[in-house]
Amino acid sequence: MKINQAHIIIEKGVKFNIGSPKEGYIKYDFDKIIVYLEAKGKRIYGNKFKIYKADHPLIFKLCCYFIKDHFNCKKFGIDINKGILLSGPVGCGKTSLMKLLRYIVPHIPHYEVIPTKNIVFGFNNIGFKIIEAYNDKLVYCFDDLGTETTGRHFTNVCNVMSDILLARHKSLINHQILTHATTNFNSNELKEHYGSDLHSKMQELFNYISFKKGAKNKHR
Ligand SMILES: Nc1ncnc2c1ncn2[C@@H]1O[C@H](COP(=O)(O)OP(=O)(O)OP(=O)(O)O)[C@@H](O)[C@H]1O
Ligand SMILES: [Mg+2]
Repeated sequence: MKINQAHIIIEKGVKFNIGSPKEGYIKYDFDKIIVYLEAKGKRIYGNKFKIYKADHPLIFKLCCYFIKDHFNCKKFGIDINKGILLSGPVGCGKTSLMKLLRYIVPHIPHYEVIPTKNIVFGFNNIGFKIIEAYNDKLVYCFDDLGTETTGRHFTNVCNVMSDILLARHKSLINHQILTHATTNFNSNELKEHYGSDLHSKMQELFNYISFKKGAKNKHR
């Protein structure tokens, strides 16, 4: 795909123009992005899916990040060289949104969204190799950070996600590496859970973006 065509997305024969080319750039149109996200969301999650008005400000921020809108990112204090840590109450739609937003930038390789519980499960089966495996240059979204249990592989006990995040943080010295995550924890709870050392490193890995405390539980 030509990058200058990245704003044209075709879904089952329906063409979505989420922006227009302008002087070598794509000028994205947020209203059109919303139309596309809702259509794509319905296709993936079913007809009940909709983009709630109350979530627009949050989704706008996330879109600015993914489309690399430097001007608005600066305004929101978002660093494009860091990943996204999307937090919010249970069921507000964090996982669905992180999976969905990948589609507005088809010219950028998809990141995998992986439940942290599955990663710990991997550790329990194959041990420390799993930590090395996630210390590569690929982009990941670690889903439900903080809900994972301690890893146990024979006699080895390990805080798997702590070790993976520490390793990815260390790799930042050598190359840019993007890590995204979702969590139900707020910043203080993350600090309590992972300790202040990792917490300060997490601030170098992630832009903290959160749903409002009272955000609707979309399970209902
Ligand atoms: N915008 C939406 N419109 C309608 N349904 C939605 C929307 N977003 C998510 N859902 C549905 O609500 C449920 C919860 O969504 P999701 O798992 O993305 O939330 P979450 O914030 O990741 O939850 P958790 O805190 O449990 O990880 C899912 O069944 C999902 O399909
Ligand atoms: Mg989730």
